[in-house]
Amino acid sequence: MTQQNTVVAQMRQLIQILAQHNHAYYVMDQPTIADSEYDQLFHQLKALEQQYPEWVQTDTPTNNVGAKPLAKFESVTHVVPMLSLGNVFNQEELFAFARRIEERLPNQKIEYDVELKFDGLAISLWYENGALVRGVTRGDGETGEDITQNVKTIRNLPKVLTHASGMVPTLLEVRGEVLMPKSGFEKLNAENEAKGEKTFANPRNAAAGSLRQLDPNVAAARPLAFYAYGIAQCEPNHGLATMSASLDWLTGFGFAVGERHFVCDSIQAVQQAYEKINAERPELSVEIDGMVVKVNDLKQQQQLGFLSREPRWATAYKFPAVAALTTVENIDWQVGRTGTLTPVARLNPVAVGGVTVSNVTLHNIGEIHRLDVRIGDTVSVYRSGDVIPKVEKVWPEFRPNDTQEVHLPEQCPVCESPVVMPEGEALARCSGGLYCSAQRIEAIRHFVSRKALDIEGLGDRWVESLLHLDLLQDVADIYHLHEHREKLLTIEKMGEKSVQNLIDSIENSKKTTLAAFIYALGIRGVGETTARMLANTFQTLDALRVADIEALKKTPDVGDITAEWIVDFFQAPHNLEVLDRLLAAGIHWDAPVAPTRQPFNGESWVITGTLSQMGRDDATQMLQALGARVSGSVSSKTKCLVAGEKAGSKLEKAEKLGIHVMNESEFIQLMQDYGQLEA
Ligand code: IVH
Repeated sequence: MTQQNTVVAQMRQLIQILAQHNHAYYVMDQPTIADSEYDQLFHQLKALEQQYPEWVQTDTPTNNVGAKPLAKFESVTHVVPMLSLGNVFNQEELFAFARRIEERLPNQKIEYDVELKFDGLAISLWYENGALVRGVTRGDGETGEDITQNVKTIRNLPKVLTHASGMVPTLLEVRGEVLMPKSGFEKLNAENEAKGEKTFANPRNAAAGSLRQLDPNVAAARPLAFYAYGIAQCEPNHGLATMSASLDWLTGFGFAVGERHFVCDSIQAVQQAYEKINAERPELSVEIDGMVVKVNDLKQQQQLGFLSREPRWATAYKFPAVAALTTVENIDWQVGRTGTLTPVARLNPVAVGGVTVSNVTLHNIGEIHRLDVRIGDTVSVYRSGDVIPKVEKVWPEFRPNDTQEVHLPEQCPVCESPVVMPEGEALARCSGGLYCSAQRIEAIRHFVSRKALDIEGLGDRWVESLLHLDLLQDVADIYHLHEHREKLLTIEKMGEKSVQNLIDSIENSKKTTLAAFIYALGIRGVGETTARMLANTFQTLDALRVADIEALKKTPDVGDITAEWIVDFFQAPHNLEVLDRLLAAGIHWDAPVAPTRQPFNGESWVITGTLSQMGRDDATQMLQALGARVSGSVSSKTKCLVAGEKAGSKLEKAEKLGIHVMNESEFIQLMQDYGQLEA
């Protein structure tokens, strides 16, 4: 045997033994060796790999694959979008969920699959011919980040699929959650504390922080685990009939699934499972924030389909929120990037559900009045799952005599411009506009943030120094910073290398997506989701720029007020000038790729006349769910006109242009065929 053969044989043997122990530990929940013994084997393999890096095996659990830190994560569009779940919080809401299902599937027996709702990070894993080729974060559900290197370091995750049946799919996309089990979390925090390093507030933050490390060696050192909860794609089709069977099938490949899962034959049994899981929560090895209830039969799931971004066939049954008492030390006013003044209560720090809370937003002056909260008051603060903490109520019985009432300031706390509060609006704002440095800083911070243009190198300290040097009047100036290299070098602690890194990360940000760019502009009312919907609806920036209120309102999520804000934004000369300068600097994106499985993707539909069986909004929503754009006017680009009673000029025009016209009953039939309406 050559030396290579011997070393490789040793490596293979260790990999196989480690995989068996991982399976025993994570899948069977029956460890066969002590952790310390596992560690010894693991280190033996690691040592061999360090000695012979050229022979490292691709399926090694150590991730000594020679992987180098990345400069940035690449974005990946999910072929099947990663949707979210609706919530129920009590028995009544759970039963209402079941009733909605029964109404859609009359006279059918419905079984529910009940799983743990892991409180971690959703990811998608791609296996091609059995090999793990890609791991992607959920991101915004449509586009995530490629974290393959980090995912490969997760010990309990099969890197190569084998199955007792011998059948391995050519393509398998598995969905699940990455978590840090409680024991690993405690150990990590204890170690970090001993080293004087940062500790994590909860296992979720620890898992998120580990997965977002550009250096896979950091992720490899963290005790992460993956738990599968679904299959997004499988070729050839697995042919399984139920959710529970698909989870069992996944365990056959070595995937871990939740420590508890049940199949319930009635919604009452689901309620019992909830009570059982809630009671057993402290004994579980992982953190959960509820359970997930899914219709078990996959065909029934398909019949039920989706409502907007959520399946009708599943819901999260969340555990009750946790609350704690504390006192309000102060109430400050923060100026946001659009000039809004938000009151923030500074609290005596208190632990709520494992997280220390010391600041909590009070939203607006109306909320302060509603709660009647004063400085010095005792309040209860609550949070549920990953929801931002909130002041639930004030305890007047604990109110001391010297509490201070809070009033809306007359002047902006940052620039001293007058504060205005237009009639009928809940929010007060600073009238200083770009003059107010809070607004300028925030606009820039927002623009460079991760979900916007993602300029990692441009942190707060840089932004402040750059404003100070007068190099940033607005966001477009970011793309001219390279012209001021000498000035940049005068900033304290900024050497050649950091300046070059900054310039590189600015250059890299030029390739973006239309949705991220729209979001980055910081238009009032346009958050991440709305930006994505605008990008999907309008497809190009030029189309969005000239859209009128009516056209904008066709976008899901956009009502009168937001539409007006968008129009105002694109009418302000200053904004147009900045926009043009941004584009001239070379910011660009590929035409938006809408997710597949939306059979009407890219098609433009028009609805006219009166529909007797449904509202026009319902029809619009169904079409949008299938990927169509619903427009207000017929043109040669219109794919189809749905004509109700008393259809007028649009029908005439469609007929003239030879566009396909459908009456209401044909439309209903079509929506039934595509699962949008019950047959
Ligand atoms: S199934 C169509 N099962 O909950 C969506 N999700 O609030 C199907 N989650 O982003 C999701 N445990 O990350 C499913 N057993 C479980 C889950 C689970 C946790 C997360 C998931 C999703 C979020 C939705």
